[in-house]
Amino acid sequence: MSAFKGTKNYIASPELQEIVSVAFDLEKPLLIRGEPGTGKTVLARAVAESLSLPLLTWHVKSSSKAQDGLYVYDTVQRLNDSRFGTGDVQDIKKYIKLGPLGQAFASPTRSIVLIDEIDKADIEFPNDLLHELDAMSFAIPETGETITARQRPVIIITSNAEKELPDAFLRRCIFHYISFPEADEMKNILKVHHPLVDQKLVSQALLRFYWLREQSEIRKKPSTSELVDWIGALVRGGIDVKQLEKEVPFLGVLLKKESDIQALKSGARKTSRY
Ligand SMILES: Nc1ncnc2c1ncn2[C@@H]1O[C@H](COP(=O)(O)OP(=O)(O)O)[C@@H](O)[C@H]1O
Ligand SMILES: [Mg+2]
Repeated sequence: MSAFKGTKNYIASPELQEIVSVAFDLEKPLLIRGEPGTGKTVLARAVAESLSLPLLTWHVKSSSKAQDGLYVYDTVQRLNDSRFGTGDVQDIKKYIKLGPLGQAFASPTRSIVLIDEIDKADIEFPNDLLHELDAMSFAIPETGETITARQRPVIIITSNAEKELPDAFLRRCIFHYISFPEADEMKNILKVHHPLVDQKLVSQALLRFYWLREQSEIRKKPSTSELVDWIGALVRGGIDVKQLEKEVPFLGVLLKKESDIQALKSGARKTSRY
């Protein structure tokens, strides 16, 4: 394959580059874990872009069922059509709507499927997908059709690790944990989002940011996405390096819990570091 190197908008660590390429070559689903905001969701877009393949996204919700990713049979529409005489209700095919996995299997070309936040659904969800992920095929009993992938899609699954995933599911995946970027890598990520910002300001902001993440009293640590927003806020607010040495302006861009803001302020009063 053409190896994945990230894109101009997505900075991928060497380990991530490698594991994406391995999953692609072995045709196995790639399970990505990591703190919120570490670029799990945007990774799929970057992979699709760099390989010039279409991306199909499935945002998993607590109510999601594995079946929905394959197809749904729109019985409500069919009932409406039969009531109001607005369509040919005998043509059941018309009421079969393929989900993201179904579309990827049916597509004549290879595609990328993002199954985003798989841990949001209940524990049965990954188990219910096992067969289809193995066979890359599923039946639609309503129409008697079977849809089989001509080319195995590249499947990227993300998890915030809210729940443990079943062993049988893990066995079928290739796994990668996106560790939180260190300052040098973070600088590269920030360059993507704020190419013109003064690097001295960025360095000082990073000192502040990593210091904040180390404060044990903070429960919801700020992540990459908050940092990207914060740098934007600093620029808009005309904050300079000197000011950043003294305070943390726009704290609400970084910390999203009242208790964290309070904890930081009271901790700071004691140590006079904030
Ligand atoms: N490696 C990266 N390269 C470029 N931008 C990144 C990277 N990691 C995170 N980001 C930024 O952080 C934001 C959050 O990323 P996202 O994929 O939504 O995180 P997650 O899905 O892990 O919670 C993205 O919109 C992007 O702007
Ligand atoms: Mg995400």
